[in-house]
Amino acid sequence: MASKAFGIDFGTSTIKIYKKGQGIVLDERNIIAISNRKNVIASGNDAFEMYEKAPANIEVSYPVRNGVIADVANMLSLLTHFMHRIGGSKRLSAADYIVATPTDITEVERRSFYDLIASSNLKVGKIKIVEKPIADAVGAGLDIMTARGVMIVDIGADTTEVSILSLGGIVLSKLIPVGGNRLDDAIKNMVKRKYNLYIGDKTAENIKKKLACALTTVEASIKVYGRDVVTGLPTEMEVSSSDVYDAISEYMFAIIDAIKIILERTPPEISSDIIDSGIYITGGSAKIFALDQLMHKETDLKINICPDSANTVVNGLGRIMEDHKLDSLADALRPKTLVN
Ligand SMILES: Nc1ncnc2c1ncn2[C@@H]1O[C@H](COP(=O)(O)OP(=O)(O)OP(=O)(O)O)[C@@H](O)[C@H]1O
Ligand SMILES: [Mg+2]
Repeated sequence: MASKAFGIDFGTSTIKIYKKGQGIVLDERNIIAISNRKNVIASGNDAFEMYEKAPANIEVSYPVRNGVIADVANMLSLLTHFMHRIGGSKRLSAADYIVATPTDITEVERRSFYDLIASSNLKVGKIKIVEKPIADAVGAGLDIMTARGVMIVDIGADTTEVSILSLGGIVLSKLIPVGGNRLDDAIKNMVKRKYNLYIGDKTAENIKKKLACALTTVEASIKVYGRDVVTGLPTEMEVSSSDVYDAISEYMFAIIDAIKIILERTPPEISSDIIDSGIYITGGSAKIFALDQLMHKETDLKINICPDSANTVVNGLGRIMEDHKLDSLADALRPKTLVN
């Protein structure tokens, strides 16, 4: 890696950038606000402020969906903006880029991360791709170069990625379209059905952060503001943790089912390693209360919720950039050869 290098985790809800030698230099909502279909008026956290509040001529959108780049033009604008903000776009010397991509995606989807950086107007040296579960495990502080098998589950915003690693490679990986956003939607629908109240995505996310619990052991409630479905007037209601549990539990079980499916397919020698060390849980949605208890109850395995769980992928990219012994974990994709 060149002396100047950046590691990027293009998450569905947040983008995180690690600068070699400095650590995480950017952690912002991966969202853009555009007016009249062409002018960028806000990016990242500033655009998130406008989300659900903007007039019709301003479109506020997330360019990454289900872990892959769904809107290349807007992602490119955001990348350029963020790199400019952190001083990475200065044209003095080229920087290397290392990007984490989900494993269970198509080659075309994987390549789009490479092409995004290659086609930007940044001064680019080498571009390398790291499988996201590998970056995740390295960021969680696990030694994945040994023959000891590891199970890592990243519960993000749009996706959950369940993976088994051994000897610095991926043995199995499954990406399911369930994450924090599904929980927010379920909470929104429940509040509308049960309380006749329309609430926005941000309110739903706040309810989740305060009340979402994987078990029914905790009882709490909070006041929620929204618009009455019948009268159309602004109203306040009290939403309880048991309502939230009823709304979200099926998705937590969908994640547990994906874990069980991967466990069933895991080679027996690796299974015995997992019995010893347990399952490692990362991603922002790992912070749901009592998730470890529910997972332990359902799998009978030790559950390790990683500290700073939303940043394990980008921290892993950082360690891979800083530590030469981990060089082999990053792949250089070749530029596309055009077939006539
Ligand atoms: N305290 C919390 N309790 C529950 N969920 C939380 C908490 N803090 C953050 N989250 C959720 O974590 C998710 C963001 O996590 P993360 O940053 O890992 O996702 P991402 O990398 O952007 O998405 P993906 O990996 O799916 O592309 C959001 O859905 C957010 O609501
Ligand atoms: Mg993520």
